[in-house]
Amino acid sequence: MLEVVSNRLQGRTAVVTGAGSGIGRASARRLAAEGAHVVVADIDPAAGKAAADEVGGLFVSVDVTVEEEVKQLYEVARETFGRVDIAFNNAGISPPEDGSILSTGLDAWRRVQDVNLTSVYYCCKYALPHMLEAGKGSIINTASFVAVMGAATSQISYSASKGGVLAMSRELGVEFARQGVRVNALCPGPVNTPLLQELFAADPERAARRLVHVPLGRFAEPEELAAAVAFLASDDSSFITASTFLVDGGISGAYVTPV
Ligand SMILES: NC(=O)c1ccc[n+]([C@@H]2O[C@H](COP(=O)([O-])OP(=O)(O)OC[C@H]3O[C@@H](n4cnc5c(N)ncnc54)[C@H](O)[C@@H]3O)[C@@H](O)[C@H]2O)c1
Repeated sequence: MLEVVSNRLQGRTAVVTGAGSGIGRASARRLAAEGAHVVVADIDPAAGKAAADEVGGLFVSVDVTVEEEVKQLYEVARETFGRVDIAFNNAGISPPEDGSILSTGLDAWRRVQDVNLTSVYYCCKYALPHMLEAGKGSIINTASFVAVMGAATSQISYSASKGGVLAMSRELGVEFARQGVRVNALCPGPVNTPLLQELFAADPERAARRLVHVPLGRFAEPEELAAAVAFLASDDSSFITASTFLVDGGISGAYVTPV
């Protein structure tokens, strides 16, 4: 756990989707540790409640693919805490049915687009009015390093969805800049999650094939993404908007990596 040195989010309200696990959960912890009221939004009630309890936050059960539920999420956050300062739109999936374009069917394609991209459209659409009314806000949408580089081990709908999140975030960042709302796309490199660990424990060669491309020589810890989220959420990043905010261990900047 990183040492938390600031109180810079004191009194702010942060809504985090997919906060029951991984990057979202670590971010909920970090945002709360820096003083924010955290609204934990997740489709998984057990994980979501546990995360909310851990951070003294509010759990709201939400399927981010359902427009009305997303609208209500921000209304509940506003009613409960009086404001919506930070929206971390992070829920996402990468199911095994999504692979090469040659083998990926339309159902898998659409499901991934719905959860990863259309959800971010809903989240921004319904978080923005609260922020515009206040004349201030920070939206952070989780894209991925795959939005800026290609992989031979394709997940075609996932990569396309993250490209969409990146372009949408950039456009919103530009559109609303002069109204006080910043919008950035967080682009994590590969993160050390239980799923990834399991996958690579079963196949060390697969892990090595990926690790060789990362200049830092390891995957990110969720807490390292959470630190970037807290920065983008705070006024410390007041001149950063419409950015492709890469937190990727250098992977997107590398040709030959250190031995
Ligand atoms: N883990 C990585 O290596 C990595 C790398 C780059 C980008 N990302 C992105 O970061 C985000 C978080 O990834 P993670 O690894 O922490 O994932 P995770 O699987 O650990 O957590 C995702 C959370 O989202 C929730 N969720 C899934 N579908 C939902 C829905 N329809 N409505 C509401 N909640 C839903 C899940 O219940 C879960 O709690 C995703 O958008 C992912 O694409 C992850």
